Amino acid sequence: MRRGRQTFGLRLVTAGLAVAGATLAGWALAAAPPPSKTSAFSPPPVSAIDDSPFGRQVALGRAIFNDPRAHAGAYVGNGLACSNCHLDEGRLAHSAPLWAAWVAYPQYRAKNGHVNTFAERLQGCFEFSENGKAPPLGDPVLVALESYAFFLARGAPTGTHMAGAGYPKLAAPASPPDPGRGARVFETHCAMCHGANGQGQSVRGQNVFPAVWGPGSYNWGAGMAQINTAAGFIKANMPLARGGSLTDQQAWDVAAYIDSQPRPQDPRFTGDVAQTRRRFHDDPYSFYGKVVDGRLVGDEPRRP
Ligand code: HEC
Ligand code: HEC
Repeated sequence: MRRGRQTFGLRLVTAGLAVAGATLAGWALAAAPPPSKTSAFSPPPVSAIDDSPFGRQVALGRAIFNDPRAHAGAYVGNGLACSNCHLDEGRLAHSAPLWAAWVAYPQYRAKNGHVNTFAERLQGCFEFSENGKAPPLGDPVLVALESYAFFLARGAPTGTHMAGAGYPKLAAPASPPDPGRGARVFETHCAMCHGANGQGQSVRGQNVFPAVWGPGSYNWGAGMAQINTAAGFIKANMPLARGGSLTDQQAWDVAAYIDSQPRPQDPRFTGDVAQTRRRFHDDPYSFYGKVVDGRLVGDEPRRP
């Protein structure tokens, strides 16, 4: 895991030079090393992927995970890679790592009211987080991703809740999450990478800093569109390589800010924002269907 982080750091510094010039590069070079995220489990290294028929599926799954547009483009509708939210290629604890996910399915999910297989859980991330289409069960894309997750979970105990699974749950904030305060956190701590307009930054068509709202980001049905989920992810992992540096309140506020901005419509949209809220977003930690800053949140066109 450590090696993965260092490689990423180098990539980030190079990207910083290209994207934002000396300021960002200097910042990245000066950034403190990532806090050590201890976890009971360490997945096998990349070098353990062999050239067998199974190993080739694992390698393909890894390639899809890191660049789904290039390797599973038919099912992807935005600019996000799986690894943009499941950091370190799906290895990092507290960033919904694949090794902890693999051993947790089949599992009942309130989101769709039945027991989901692992493959069905993967379908959900394509539909919502990737703002795309679910690959049909048995599709080569799902087979490859399942192989990759199974490989990462080698030796993990099945059916247990592993330390580092999912994203951390933050305690309720002292003061209700506030998009206005969050905007100031965003300007100071996030905009240099994700852009002042939240749309991310790319170099020669390669997405280096992913979009946190707008057409290139996750849609309203995604887990990350829930401010409690986003706040937990942000607190543990953002600003990149400085996880844990924001206060809980700052993480809640900046999550409230990005999750009250425009983003692609929920694919389950009924045609009516208030009704869609009642059916799918009736949750104190969703701004969907609420008015923020004079704008009806979630009032986006239906997906084509
Ligand atoms: C140094 C650059 C940098 C800074 C600063 C930074 N991020 Fe990120 N962020 C990234 C990168 C790069 C990724 C994707 C990680 C990967 O692929 O390994 C990411 C991923 C994300 C994601 C998930 C993917 C997406 O686009 O939705 C969210 C949400 C996010 N960041 C929010 C924030 C917030 C909020 C802040 C400020 C508190 C912040 N980031 C600060 C670089 C940064
Ligand atoms: C915008 C961020 C984002 C992107 C992009 C994304 N996911 Fe997720 N993913 C999440 C969130 C949020 C969860 C729910 C985690 C939780 O509630 O603890 C999740 C959950 C999962 C889970 C279940 C984890 C568990 O522990 O139960 C799997 C497996 C998964 N995603 C795979 C993928 C794959 C494969 C892709 C790419 C095709 C992908 N994700 C893209 C945010 C994202």
